[in-house]
Amino acid sequence: MKTDSPSTGTDTGQSFFYPHQMFFECVTALAVLAALVVLSFVWQAPLEEMADPGDVTYVPRPEWYFLFYFQLLKYFEGPLVVVGTCVLPALVFALLILLPFLDKSEETDVRKRPVTAAICLAALFSVVGLTVVSIVEDERHGYRMVLPPIAEEQIPEGQDLFKRFCQSCHGMDGKGGFFAPDLTQIGSRANRAYIERVILQPQIVSQTTIMSLIPLSDTERHAVSAYLSRKK
Ligand code: HEC
Repeated sequence: MKTDSPSTGTDTGQSFFYPHQMFFECVTALAVLAALVVLSFVWQAPLEEMADPGDVTYVPRPEWYFLFYFQLLKYFEGPLVVVGTCVLPALVFALLILLPFLDKSEETDVRKRPVTAAICLAALFSVVGLTVVSIVEDERHGYRMVLPPIAEEQIPEGQDLFKRFCQSCHGMDGKGGFFAPDLTQIGSRANRAYIERVILQPQIVSQTTIMSLIPLSDTERHAVSAYLSRKK
């Protein structure tokens, strides 16, 4: 892509990346930035509630387009965390920078560049796959739960279930076991979503908890959480 005069290299239909293409890209980038600035003034970005350090029920999650990365980080623990946070991203960006030097082919037909196409497809599938896994895992642990409103008949049903499945360990209104925290006032320190999540995955309270997974149906779990959230 070379012409004799780089400054007016357009007459042959070819031009140098620098400065021609670069100029257009800078103009486009500035226009996009200006549009974003205007939009952010016109439409205030939606914020969540003020952060509350005493709230144990909040589940922080990145925006959907970062979920794949968030999911990836879950696979690296302890000293290996740097692999997920630094090493892998550095490798990916290094690859992006090196790509034009590694693959100089001018071929534009994807089928004739199987290696590059395979790498891109693998990257695409990984990103989509990790996003899906992240959503499914959160779904299973109750992190994306939308709870139906409490119906009054759930309260006695929840109380019944609590006596059967929970009270052997948890104290309630002066009765019940001593193996676990008294839940008489649980409703004033936890919301329904948190209670549901503890039932679905007791380890979120403590990794080594003796609280076992209690096989309640969705309706039964909703009844128990409705009952407990009223205990204030
Ligand atoms: C085998 C005993 C046991 C049973 C049965 C049990 N739990 Fe627990 N539960 C615990 C223990 C122990 C903890 C405290 C976590 C820890 O530190 O291990 C706990 C913690 C909790 C918490 C969190 C309390 C807090 O202050 O954050 C909730 C909510 C809870 N349990 C609800 C239930 C419900 C609802 C049931 C019945 C469906 C149930 N538990 C059955 C032992 C039990």
